[in-house]
Amino acid sequence: MTIEIERYDAMREPSSAVLSYKLPDGDMTLLQALEYIKTKIDPTLSFDKGCRSGICGSCAMRVNDREVLACNYKPVDGDKVSPLRYHEVQRDLIVDKSAARQTLRKSRSWLHGYNGAAVAIAQEKITEVQSDCILCDSCYSACPVLAVNPDFLGPFALTRVYRYSADVREGDAKPMIDAVQQSGVWDCTLCGECTAVCPQGIDPKMDITMLRSTSAQHGYMDPNFSAMSFGFGGF
Ligand code: FES
Repeated sequence: MTIEIERYDAMREPSSAVLSYKLPDGDMTLLQALEYIKTKIDPTLSFDKGCRSGICGSCAMRVNDREVLACNYKPVDGDKVSPLRYHEVQRDLIVDKSAARQTLRKSRSWLHGYNGAAVAIAQEKITEVQSDCILCDSCYSACPVLAVNPDFLGPFALTRVYRYSADVREGDAKPMIDAVQQSGVWDCTLCGECTAVCPQGIDPKMDITMLRSTSAQHGYMDPNFSAMSFGFGGF
C-alpha cells in the first residue's frame, strides 16, 4: 500500500511537497503508519499524537480532503494525507491551533451567571454530548464558511455556547448570545460538514440551529432576513 503525505517545512527548499510512502501489508491505523514512516523511512516526518485512542484530539488531520483522527482511521492504498485547514502549518501535519482556540474566548462560551439550580438527569442529557468535545478542530477544518469569512466563530465554539446557554444552571446567557451574533450563528450555512466529521458524534449544525432559536428569544433575528424587502412598502 502506498500513501501520499503533504509535507511542509519552511526551512526546506522547496518548502512544500507531496511525497509517497510505501507501507508494509497489514492492519494498521494511520497513526501507526505515520510512526512506521518516521522510524523506518524518514525521521523528519512531523505529526501530533497523544492518547492513541481517540480521546485527546491531537492527531486530527485530513485524508482525501476529509477530517479524521489518525489513531482511529485505517489507511487504504492511494490515500492522500494533509494537515487541517484554516490553521497555520508549523511543519508537515502539525498545525498551530491557538488562533482557532480564540473563538472560545470571542464567543464567551462559559457559564456567566451561576444560579445554583439542581441539574436533573434529563436536563443533563440535553447537553451531554456537547460536553464530549475533544477540541480536535475537525469541524473547524471542515467548515466551508471559514474559507470566505476567517472571522467566523466556527462550529466547536458555537456548540460550546449552546452547551452553556442550555444549561439550567446558567442564569445569564445574554453575554454569550450577544457574542455570537456577528460572524456567528447567522453566518452558518447549515451545510452539516461539521456534523459529518465530528469523531464524538456531536451535531454542531443542530446546536447552531438551536442557538438561532435562543437568539430570537433574546430579541435577535437573522440579519439577512431582516434586510429583505417583501414588497409591503405600500401598506
Ligand atoms: Fe489522541 Fe488520536 S492520539 S485522538
